[in-house]
Amino acid sequence: MNIFSEKLIVWYAGNKRELPWRDTTDPYIIWISEIILQQTRVVQGYDYFLRFIHRFPDVTALAEASEDEVMKCWQGLGYYSRARNLHAAAKSMNGVFPTTYEGVRALKGVGDYTAAAICSFAYGMPYAVVDGNVYRVLSRYFGIDTSVDSTEGKKLFAALADEMMDKSQPAVYNQAIMDFGAIQCTPQSPNCLFCPLADSCSALKEGTITKLPVKQHK
Ligand code: ADE
Repeated sequence: MNIFSEKLIVWYAGNKRELPWRDTTDPYIIWISEIILQQTRVVQGYDYFLRFIHRFPDVTALAEASEDEVMKCWQGLGYYSRARNLHAAAKSMNGVFPTTYEGVRALKGVGDYTAAAICSFAYGMPYAVVDGNVYRVLSRYFGIDTSVDSTEGKKLFAALADEMMDKSQPAVYNQAIMDFGAIQCTPQSPNCLFCPLADSCSALKEGTITKLPVKQHK
């Protein structure tokens, strides 16, 4: 294992957030949580998540519900196409959640990030999540000033994320980098003073923490 993911995973063991969707490998439950968390913060999404899975505990329950019931459960969360896509996708499954990456990625409303999250958390598949948190952590640690919203940047960071992933524990690695970006390596005033990656962080050494990641379109 590389030193980056080794330290990240040790940090995670001591700092992980206890979240209800982390106590399961049920792909349905993980799917619901990831769709909610696409555009909603953990604190805002928490109660909605619990209500939603209580009301619709599995694919069949969701598929058999009326559109009205589903929308009512989503009321107040915003980005309502998420709820419509969930409902449509549940109906398309015939009671069985897809078991391959391609199958998961093909669901309405599921992009690369969400497919990687579901497949790693539910099935232990080695797909690395890449989002704003991951861009920030990787660009700082490795001192990469390639724009994250350029075609080149997207490719570069996706390849690096993949290379850094500890393939023996994809779920732990993905959760660790999510939480590290959310709690430790934050956009403004990251906690570099008490950071286990500080020794080998390129941006900290070069004084470029506040300049990274670079975005073309702000
Ligand atoms: N944001 C997106 N997915 C998440 C997850 N599984 N846990 C915490 N925050 C997230």
